Amino acid sequence: MSTLLHIDSSPLYGRSVSRQLTGAFVTQWKSSHPDGTVVDRDLNATSIPLVTAEWVGAAYAPEEARSPQQKEVLAISDALLAELGQADEYVIGVPMHNFGVPSVLKLWIDQIARVNRTFSYANGTPKGLLTGKKATFIIATGGVYDAQTRMASFNFVEPYLRSVFGFLGVTDATFLTAGGTAALNQGLDRDAFLAPHLQVVQSHAQTV
Ligand SMILES: Cc1cc2nc3c(=O)[nH]c(=O)nc-3n(C[C@H](O)[C@H](O)[C@H](O)COP(=O)(O)O)c2cc1C
Repeated sequence: MSTLLHIDSSPLYGRSVSRQLTGAFVTQWKSSHPDGTVVDRDLNATSIPLVTAEWVGAAYAPEEARSPQQKEVLAISDALLAELGQADEYVIGVPMHNFGVPSVLKLWIDQIARVNRTFSYANGTPKGLLTGKKATFIIATGGVYDAQTRMASFNFVEPYLRSVFGFLGVTDATFLTAGGTAALNQGLDRDAFLAPHLQVVQSHAQTV
């Protein structure tokens, strides 16, 4: 029985393209995994603290030497790591904000990138510890950042996610992008815009 962790990070809810597409992925995944479990983590409804000096001190202290306060500082990180560890697959909705990932997603990444939990530097070599997972990232961007276009080098979303998740051990990652959502604000029909993206997402969800 497999578990899917479904993460969203768009503040726009009903108007969000990435949320609609991750929703379609989940619906399809449920129908192909009738015994599977879906865990929803809405980052816009989760209070995630900033990384502080106390947090870094607690994360780098040996587990058995942590004070009760240090354990408390890491409690949210521990809970988010437990979700990641228990799931076999991830689907993560990502709106492009200012050419990068939204701040709530960065806060989450800062909590789950933990030494000796999701990565290690044994013998000075980085090793990802989050292995055996499959991830699908569904990205929505107002502009178009396809390779070979003038704007391609402005896209810090996919290269960043590929690097950071690869570093953590998640190398089986698929990136599906709905580019050009700004046209929806200029009168482009939403259903017509979404139809090809829904098809790509649904057929990918059938294969994972
Ligand atoms: C705060 C904010 C910043 C944005 N920055 C960019 C940007 O740098 N480049 C871009 O192409 N679109 C940008 N957009 C547009 C979004 O990427 C676009 O609306 C996309 O559909 C967001 O995903 P969502 O519909 O799931 O929220 C921005 C939107 C917001 C709200």
